[in-house]
Amino acid sequence: MASDSSSLPSSICFLLSILVFSTMLVAYAGNFYQDFDITWGNGRAKILDNGRLLTLSLDKASGSGFQSKNEFLFGKIDVQLKLVPGNSAGTVTAYYLSSKGSTWDEIDFEFLGNLSGDPYILHTNVFSQGRGNREQQFYLWFDPTANFHTYSVLWNPQNIIFYVDGTPIREFKNLESTGVPFPKSQAMRIYSSLWNADDWATRGGLVKTDWSQAPFTASYRNFNADGCVWAAGRSSCTSGNSWFSQQLDSVGQARLRWVQKNYMIYNYCTDTKRFPQGLPKECSANA
Ligand SMILES: *[C@@H]1O[C@H](CO)[C@@H](O)[C@H](O)[C@H]1NC(C)=O
Repeated sequence: MASDSSSLPSSICFLLSILVFSTMLVAYAGNFYQDFDITWGNGRAKILDNGRLLTLSLDKASGSGFQSKNEFLFGKIDVQLKLVPGNSAGTVTAYYLSSKGSTWDEIDFEFLGNLSGDPYILHTNVFSQGRGNREQQFYLWFDPTANFHTYSVLWNPQNIIFYVDGTPIREFKNLESTGVPFPKSQAMRIYSSLWNADDWATRGGLVKTDWSQAPFTASYRNFNADGCVWAAGRSSCTSGNSWFSQQLDSVGQARLRWVQKNYMIYNYCTDTKRFPQGLPKECSANA
């Protein structure tokens, strides 16, 4: 009886059709076949579940990776990621935006694995015109291997903000006026890969990858890019995207300070030993 829509009031039919339509939109937004190309790993990267799920795997012979079909010049880009569970020491899952060439721009998330029960490190960096050295590292306030969590980048002409489950963890402001280059004129592609980095990833390389645990697998779903697609020298963006001028409000600033106070374990901006000539210029405003 419930399946006979002719017996339902029309308002319910209307609601149902909205529901069906919005489900279609969500499925569209999350299709890995449409948005990405698998670029390496010889079958170790897989798109599953009609394009809704992507998995990367790593074994002793090789890791794997994928890249976006589109290039973006600014955007608000989200993906949900469930990291390699169990003993993931030595493995690195990287998810980043990057342009090409010797003066490239790059926005990085890298997840450094660990022994079972020991915390992952979320390593972040921002390159502008080929110069990085802007690492900040964090522990997470949840187990990133138990469930999917959302990792986002907001990149607009004012700032780059890294988010975890909607909470800002890092802000890189546009300080061009003080002579610090800001990524704003080179389109970037999205890349992700899972590889072995046991020479440095876990406790600085002390803990090696346990290959008896291979294959290691990380999973991705619900990719969404609210971005300006760059193609043939032109941007798809007109004006009026709400994210295009978005900056942290006072609530966002407070959340950012909470993360930085409780979960940040390395900040290049406080590493005076590393920069004996003085901290990088942006540090006074991006502390
Ligand atoms: C791994 O766990 C150790 C011990 O708790 C910790 O010092 C380290 O920061 C953790 N993460 C990585 C990636 O080394």
